[in-house]
Amino acid sequence: MITRAAITAVGGYVPEKILTNKELEKMVDTNDQWIRDRTGIEERRILDKDRATSDMGVEAILNLLSKTNYSAEDIDLIIVSTVSPDYVYPATANIIADKIGAVNSWGFDMNAACSGFLYALRTGSQFIESGMHKKVLVVGADKMSIRVDYEDRNTCILFGDGAGAVLLEPTEENGIIDSKFAVDGSGGNFLMQKAGGSKYPTSLETLKNKEHYIYQDGRTVFKFAVKGMADITEEVMKQNNLTADDVAYLVPHQANKRIIDATAKRAGLPDEKVMVNIQKYGNTTNATIPLCLWEWEDKLKPGDNILLAAFGGGFAWGSIYLKWAY
Ligand code: COA
Repeated sequence: MITRAAITAVGGYVPEKILTNKELEKMVDTNDQWIRDRTGIEERRILDKDRATSDMGVEAILNLLSKTNYSAEDIDLIIVSTVSPDYVYPATANIIADKIGAVNSWGFDMNAACSGFLYALRTGSQFIESGMHKKVLVVGADKMSIRVDYEDRNTCILFGDGAGAVLLEPTEENGIIDSKFAVDGSGGNFLMQKAGGSKYPTSLETLKNKEHYIYQDGRTVFKFAVKGMADITEEVMKQNNLTADDVAYLVPHQANKRIIDATAKRAGLPDEKVMVNIQKYGNTTNATIPLCLWEWEDKLKPGDNILLAAFGGGFAWGSIYLKWAY
């Protein structure tokens, strides 16, 4: 018998504060119609200034645990994927473990930009498949509002704050079946935070140049994202002999509705098989996929074939095929 890792619980959290397209019209030279037409986004959530990414991760985990018979002490490992950690170090995973009382857990952060949650999910699944752990929490959380320049209309319309979490446990049926991942570092310059790392440490100059905010060449990223996400999803379908009829849901990273539509079209999937909540939350980076699972949880049935797909900065992209377990 092969031991697989199955998602056995899901939790989510989005801040209460809503930032609408109409409100953005007052901040930058944009308009509601343009944002809807070009991205599919209608509003996004913004976390209070005095709260951090770990606070959202904690909320998502508490929501998840409330649906199980487990307590934080039962958790073996917490992996947090984020591009907006509370600090450069210590890891946000450690802060979350402390806040929820996961005294028997270890943890670490991962960063694969917008694909981070899928990379973390696949990493977490290895600890289950190897037999090393029985309960792994994978958290995708981002306070993107700290990464966004609200004077830059190219990026400020796109992003929002949120967190999602899944619990991985061993199973002998269903669970994570297959995956494929790719990186192309030559694409790094098209989507990045230029300063604040070891190459361009924070200085008065970098602050003046606003280099601590997201820089994106949207058109180029769009082109690569459409191809990357569609290609890799198709490859995972092919290597598992899946047709569109076999697939219950595609769970795409929510960066742009047009990228989602292109991926769904290539996979031959109708709208009702594609999870989309970008209109409400925008791009929450590491939280998009678990927030979709959180919202669709009640509709999912054991054995459903689910395809997860993401593309993001790096470039880094990937797709996971799993059978829903509960
Ligand atoms: N409001 C109104 N007009 C805007 C605008 C805004 N917020 N932002 C850009 N524009 C303008 C541009 O200046 C441009 O005007 P011009 O033709 O006079 O130069 C025009 O709209 C078209 O700009 P363009 O950048 O070609 O738009 P687009 O259709 O590519 O949409 C993005 C822009 C950012 C929405 C889109 O490129 C995108 O989603 N890119 C990928 C994002 C992504 O997946 N990122 C990955 C993160 S994981």
